[in-house]
Amino acid sequence: MLSALLLLAIIASSVTAWVVNNGTTCYVYPESLTHFGQPVDDTPSILQAFELCGTNGSVILQNYTYNINQVMNTTTLVNCDVELHGEMKWSDNIPYWLGHSYSVTYANLSTAWFFGGENVTFQGFGKGQFNGNGQAWYDENRNNSNQPGRPIGFTILNAKNLWMDGVSWRQAQFWHSFISHSQNVTMSNIYMNSTSNNQWFTVNTDGTDTWNSRDISFYNWTVEGGDDCIAIKGNSTNIYSKNITCYRTHGMPIGSVGQDPTHPDFVNDIVYEDVHLINSTNGAWIKAWQGKATNVTNNGDAGGGGGGYINNVTYRNFRIENIGQPISITQCVYGHDPSVCDTSRLQISNVTWENITGTSHFDVASIIHCSRLVPCPGLKFIDVNITTVNASLGRPSLPQIQLCANMIGQNATGEDATNIPCHGFAPNDMPNVLYRNWPELSSEVILSVVVPEAQRNNCLHPGPNNTAAGCDPPPY
Ligand SMILES: *[C@@H]1O[C@H](CO)[C@@H](O)[C@H](O)[C@H]1NC(C)=O
Ligand SMILES: *[C@@H]1O[C@H](CO)[C@@H](O)[C@H](O)[C@H]1NC(C)=O
Ligand SMILES: *[C@@H]1O[C@H](CO)[C@@H](O)[C@H](O)[C@H]1NC(C)=O
Ligand SMILES: *[C@@H]1O[C@H](CO)[C@@H](O)[C@H](O)[C@H]1NC(C)=O
Ligand SMILES: *[C@@H]1O[C@H](CO)[C@@H](O)[C@H](O)[C@H]1NC(C)=O
Ligand SMILES: *[C@@H]1O[C@H](CO)[C@@H](O)[C@H](O)[C@H]1NC(C)=O
Ligand SMILES: *[C@@H]1O[C@H](CO)[C@@H](O)[C@H](O)[C@H]1NC(C)=O
Ligand SMILES: *[C@@H]1O[C@H](CO)[C@@H](O)[C@H](O)[C@H]1NC(C)=O
Ligand SMILES: *[C@@H]1O[C@H](CO)[C@@H](O)[C@H](O)[C@H]1NC(C)=O
Ligand SMILES: *[C@@H]1O[C@H](CO)[C@@H](O)[C@H](O)[C@H]1NC(C)=O
Ligand SMILES: *[C@@H]1O[C@H](CO)[C@@H](O)[C@H](O)[C@H]1NC(C)=O
Ligand SMILES: *[C@@H]1O[C@H](CO)[C@@H](O)[C@H](O)[C@H]1NC(C)=O
Repeated sequence: MLSALLLLAIIASSVTAWVVNNGTTCYVYPESLTHFGQPVDDTPSILQAFELCGTNGSVILQNYTYNINQVMNTTTLVNCDVELHGEMKWSDNIPYWLGHSYSVTYANLSTAWFFGGENVTFQGFGKGQFNGNGQAWYDENRNNSNQPGRPIGFTILNAKNLWMDGVSWRQAQFWHSFISHSQNVTMSNIYMNSTSNNQWFTVNTDGTDTWNSRDISFYNWTVEGGDDCIAIKGNSTNIYSKNITCYRTHGMPIGSVGQDPTHPDFVNDIVYEDVHLINSTNGAWIKAWQGKATNVTNNGDAGGGGGGYINNVTYRNFRIENIGQPISITQCVYGHDPSVCDTSRLQISNVTWENITGTSHFDVASIIHCSRLVPCPGLKFIDVNITTVNASLGRPSLPQIQLCANMIGQNATGEDATNIPCHGFAPNDMPNVLYRNWPELSSEVILSVVVPEAQRNNCLHPGPNNTAAGCDPPPY
């Protein structure tokens, strides 16, 4: 390592060069150093560093704040080690990003940075931080979902053998990260936290999502955000998550899948283990679209009718606290029209929930509704022990119930036993998020089977009109 004095000497002797390099190692300095602290755009310097040192080299961002005012596309790195010792801070120039974010193809979403290549490391040493300046986006977005052009902070695209470690994210613009068309990616010791300082919620700030990727591992994550914690989307194979703590998220979903009839979604070999979920709307959750395309008015989204499958999934060692729907399968995730619900052809099979312990917010521990057209084989509970948070607090509570529909071999015994109690029929059009009575923990908890008709709309992303439609405000 260069000493601080030597670094100062280099800065002093190269006032116009914001990338100091010897051909293999590129040190990037922020423009603010020579602009009296003004936040001048550092994107050109960073892109130059990747150009000079992105193959068989290192790119080092020091302990400074770097201002990122433009999109970046650095997807052809080879044998490159990136170090981030300071902060990368994205501008909140909303018109710029709406006009320039790169399309990620998936669901018409877009991103501020494509990052990828082969044999790449990205280390933050527990200090490197992405600051998405997200409050501007939360305010502008006003609780709406999937605003076109609102960028995912960091998209790993076309990566092979990538290790990212010790990086944190604050105030993400949209999803914190996305992994697309990549193989053998590990992200470890990751901290993500996006919280709004006003009434506009951080809608859609997923921790990460995987899509068309395989052999991906996540270790040691802490996430606080306004949507899914770690979500697995179509064409994801061998995805492993271990030691993940999530506050106030939508939990650990697989899906949504089955949105696009022309692109089937295949998902298999998924393990989530040692997961701690606190105050989340959902827990271990599988969500597929219904079998017929339909418009979803309050989600900015439409679809359904997609094929594919979800097979071989394990949710193991979950500690849950105050979770709305701890365990659930729906194959009608955004459909609430009885004529299209229950029509999914996307086969879900071999899902195990093992050692799931803790408290649910309502009196429903599990709601498993497989599609009538493709009932689910191989579902299993092993040591699932969930009580209502009221019961655990010694408050009045209804008995905990488990609801199910269209499971194969529900009453099998021995090796094939599902061990999934079915106290009643799981409705095929449950709201994704049950808000009713939240957060009055001491008053009655609802019975899902009597969710009033007015509640049976999509309350997942409550917009300004959803209160009128019967959705209570978000539970956090
Ligand atoms: C460039 O600098 C790095 C870091 O100081 C050093 O490891 C590397 O050997 C240097 N390379 C050349 C070609 O001087
Ligand atoms: C990084 O810079 C900040 C302020 O400029 C300083 O407080 C901090 O100690 C520095 N960290 C390291 C590891 O040098
Ligand atoms: C990103 O760079 C790669 C490699 O140069 C190129 O193929 C791709 O089209 C670029 N993507 C965008 C959105 O510009
Ligand atoms: C990446 O690393 C692997 C294993 O060290 C090596 O076999 C491969 O050639 C490297 N890829 C490139 C593009 O250098
Ligand atoms: C996967 O990537 C890691 C770097 O994160 C590398 O050490 C390992 O060799 C890669 N595995 C394979 C099978 O290439
Ligand atoms: C996230 O940030 C908020 C605001 O700074 C803070 O109150 C909260 O404790 C943080 N959450 C975690 C999990 O660190
Ligand atoms: C789990 O990850 C957290 C960071 O999120 C870390 O503090 C803790 O030590 C890890 N626990 C284990 C058992 O690795
Ligand atoms: C997870 O955190 C623990 C405790 O800090 C550490 O020992 C372990 O190496 C971390 N795991 C990974 C994969 O970084
Ligand atoms: C998934 O992969 C298959 C090919 O294996 C492809 O036909 C399909 O379009 C992909 N689906 C998505 C959603 O990308
Ligand atoms: C299920 O997935 C796990 C984890 O990837 C894998 O170890 C196991 O072999 C898979 N089982 C089957 C039957 O494919
Ligand atoms: C979870 O929510 C409850 C009820 O709102 C609150 O009392 C508690 O502090 C929250 N726990 C955490 C860790 O945020
Ligand atoms: C969805 O709504 C659009 C615009 O109103 C319409 O063109 C389209 O046909 C509808 N699609 C379905 C599946 O109903």
